[in-house]
Amino acid sequence: MDDRVKWNRKYEERIMLMIEPTANSRLKELSTHLTGGKALDLACGLGGNSLFLARMNYYVEAIDISDVAIDYIQEQSNMHHLSIVPRLFDLTELNKLNFQKKSFDLVVITNYLDRSLFPIVKEIIKENGYFFMETFFQSNLNDNLGVSNQYRLKPKELLDEFSDWQILFYEESEQEAKQTIFCQKLN
Ligand SMILES: C[S@@+](CC[C@H](N)C(=O)[O-])C[C@H]1O[C@@H](n2cnc3c(N)ncnc32)[C@H](O)[C@@H]1O
Repeated sequence: MDDRVKWNRKYEERIMLMIEPTANSRLKELSTHLTGGKALDLACGLGGNSLFLARMNYYVEAIDISDVAIDYIQEQSNMHHLSIVPRLFDLTELNKLNFQKKSFDLVVITNYLDRSLFPIVKEIIKENGYFFMETFFQSNLNDNLGVSNQYRLKPKELLDEFSDWQILFYEESEQEAKQTIFCQKLN
């Protein structure tokens, strides 16, 4: 089953059960830094982060491979008069979108790992702009989660990857098996 089919099924079920998408809790806690502008939510799913950011005065571009998710975000955005542009797109081809360099104030990725996105993310964020990412990592406690190592960060991987950025928040939660970074691009 390909990713689009798999995620479409999950999201159809969640929409039917009226499970409201919620924003990442650590992103919400960092809201003092979230002062609005242009944001990009990669692998946005049902748009918990996108909806939250739009309510924080961001103009949000939200990208996902699931048309069920993209249609849902479009509906929510229309219904609540939010500035979100949902786009159905395969992120393995993100370079084809030809985003302008230094054009986003904030890029967000949660629960999705494709390391080939990092160079693009670094290019499209403005100077002094922010990057937030949280996803699974290879902690000692979480070997039974059924997530393959390909989709799990190595310990400290995001710290190393963004070592020349200003790190405003970093956490490895063994309990949740999640690694989180919030960092700012330096001039
Ligand atoms: C675990 S969900 C995370 C959704 C959301 N970011 C969150 O944290 O709730 C992973 C998402 O990645 C999307 N996805 C998987 N492969 C993709 C691809 N190649 N291009 C774009 N989106 C993809 C899926 O459709 C799904 O919405």
